[in-house]
Amino acid sequence: MTSANNGREMGLLIRGASQVVQVSSKGEKFKLKDYMSDLAILSATSTEGVSIAVDKNGLIAAIGMDSEIARQYPAATWDTIIEAKGQSVVPGLVDAHTHPVWAGDRVHEFTMKLAGATYMEVHQAGGGINFTVTKTREASEDELLELLIPRLKRMVSSGTTLVECKSGYGLNVETELKMLRVLEKARPLVPITISSTFCGAHSVPRGLTAEEATRRVLEEQLPALKKARESGELQVDSIDVFCEHNVFDVDQTRRILEAGKRDGLLINFHAEELHPLKSAEMGASLGAEVMSHLEEISEEGIAAMAKAGSVGVLLPTTAYILRLTPPPARAMIDAGVPVALGTDFNPNAFCLSMPLVMHLACVTMKMSLAEALTASTLHAAHSLRKAHLHGSIEPGKVADLVVVDAPRWEHLVYQFGGADHVISHVIKNGKVSHCRK
Ligand code: NIG
Ligand code: FE
Repeated sequence: MTSANNGREMGLLIRGASQVVQVSSKGEKFKLKDYMSDLAILSATSTEGVSIAVDKNGLIAAIGMDSEIARQYPAATWDTIIEAKGQSVVPGLVDAHTHPVWAGDRVHEFTMKLAGATYMEVHQAGGGINFTVTKTREASEDELLELLIPRLKRMVSSGTTLVECKSGYGLNVETELKMLRVLEKARPLVPITISSTFCGAHSVPRGLTAEEATRRVLEEQLPALKKARESGELQVDSIDVFCEHNVFDVDQTRRILEAGKRDGLLINFHAEELHPLKSAEMGASLGAEVMSHLEEISEEGIAAMAKAGSVGVLLPTTAYILRLTPPPARAMIDAGVPVALGTDFNPNAFCLSMPLVMHLACVTMKMSLAEALTASTLHAAHSLRKAHLHGSIEPGKVADLVVVDAPRWEHLVYQFGGADHVISHVIKNGKVSHCRK
């Protein structure tokens, strides 16, 4: 009898792999507590490897032992075949928190911080975010796009296939919308999926009080954003606020987040970074999808997040660069918070590499390698409410994959800072988007 798949035209076949790390295999959108480190892995036997079949639409069609997949697709023609003997495959990495649109670096502040200045000292002296705001307001849309593209390409070459990108260096209608338009223009130009976040309350602009800035976000920026989304000019998924002592307080943050939520945005905000403010409890009370940073979160805050199902996006680069006590990742995982990871790429923390972030998460936050992978794939995708399509290697999901040139996937993290060498292919939507030279 002829199989229905005989002669079928297919997209990509990866075969012979030592390991295919699916992360999840039962359609789970998150994996809590001990289950977070229970990775679904298919391994080669002494006689055959593991295959992944991708259809013409860039969706994963099947995963299985080489012989099984060969039987399922007996006379298929493939656009691309990758022979992955001795290699392993993991889901495309998901970076859950970045600030990638800006002009003007802050390398001079790095020197100041190494000499002992704190983040807030630099911020209050007019540097930090407000320095970047000045430079970003001055830059044209084309200049910002030209700066953004190579950053996104570097993310791709480090294995990232889905990234959350914030605005927040405009702090007024004109420049916030300009930044979001730059993200929009970048979408077709780089093989990476972008989830945009409006962060008009990232800092209090010079000359305004926090209360005045809050009102401008509520009365000017959010209505302008709503219009741009309704007209189809902008696709924006989430709203963010930097809730911090001497930036936006808990009540101002709550008002802004509530207004964003009314407009249909997901809540995804900076909480409990430098001072414990009970912002995690506030976020949980709003049903926030995500809270980031959380270095200063309390036990009560952790319990509230677990109950609300809020994803905790942890950012080990920031704690490392600012020499902060790292967030209590272990306590959060043990309490049942879905923990995710992000680079926090911004002019303070210039890191575009998720493998590096995973390494830091293991060493400085005591996460296991398996937890770091779940956090950088499935949970990060869930934080953006995209885990139905991204974050694991399962039939029906988008074929976003990273081929690691080692028989065990852990080399991706173990080879500290070595992603450029250890990643042989990055696959986006079933197509090779990066290939090691
Ligand atoms: O996540 N904490 C606030 N926002 C960024 C820093 C942005 C900047 O310093 O430019 C963060 O670390
Ligand atoms: Fe941030």
